[in-house]
Amino acid sequence: MRILLTIAELRSARAELLGSDAAATLGLVPTMGALHEGHLALVRAAKERCRFVAVSIFVNPLQFGPSEDFSRYPRTFDQDCTLLLKEGVDLVFAPAAEEMVPAHATTFIEVGGIGDRLDGRSRPGHFRGVTTIVGKLFHVVAPHIAFFGQKDAAQVAVLRAMVRDLNFDLELVVCPTVRESDGLALSSRNRYLSAEERTHALALYRALQSVASMSAQERDAQVLQKHLRSCLESAEGVRVDYAEVVRPRTLEAITDTHGGALVAVAAWVGKTRLIDNILLLPGNTP
Ligand code: PAJ
Repeated sequence: MRILLTIAELRSARAELLGSDAAATLGLVPTMGALHEGHLALVRAAKERCRFVAVSIFVNPLQFGPSEDFSRYPRTFDQDCTLLLKEGVDLVFAPAAEEMVPAHATTFIEVGGIGDRLDGRSRPGHFRGVTTIVGKLFHVVAPHIAFFGQKDAAQVAVLRAMVRDLNFDLELVVCPTVRESDGLALSSRNRYLSAEERTHALALYRALQSVASMSAQERDAQVLQKHLRSCLESAEGVRVDYAEVVRPRTLEAITDTHGGALVAVAAWVGKTRLIDNILLLPGNTP
């Protein structure tokens, strides 16, 4: 496994790896490190689909708001590399901030509409930071396939729009959310939670499950959304940021769930903001 710290190093490592084999495929798993089984599931999916796998580790300053957790975001680079080595990853790209966000840079990628919904509404500028850096990673690493988690459903919608609108020549693969045995979605931010907050955090998944079972009889998106919100509002230790039932590709409000729906929540548990979601398939099988 090679660890590359600059764009120039990464580009030459990529060229060496793929050589003149036109059929060789490269998969990319973009991450911010503090890796857990959710990230590793993406790496395994990439190993299955691609001859070579690159993982990027970059805590992206552009996607954090001024009062958010950029400076205390967990950084566990050595542990991350040990995990990636075990998974048989070929390239780890871990650029410095000046490499990805040079002081002179004034060019950004912004997805209008979709990028202002859900997390985009709660965290102004967040998706502009994500798309600018992921777009740059796509240019630099030039993967054939890039792997993302359904855990960040709004991010997936925004990135799909970016890939379509800017004609990035790659496929996006979205992998299911990996959860703890009690349903809590794995997240690098779970390590901020105290034991008590960890228990409170289960309310997110419970609320989603409750909507899933209700959706078998109830197709009215507003009714489901109200139920989702009231489940969360009645839970101890949880403050709702958003609780919505929307169209998965555009994140727009819908009237009914016949065509499928994204049921998405963001909530504060203590000082930690957590997100989770489920998809209702067309015809409403959760
Ligand atoms: P990060 O939060 O590190 O997540 C990296 C990838 O892992 C994302 O695609 C995310 O959806 C996926 N992931 C996280 N938890 C998961 C889980 N429990 N199950 C399945 N997949 C999971 O998302 C980012 O970083 C950044 O925004 C990034 C795309 C790297 C751009 O900076």
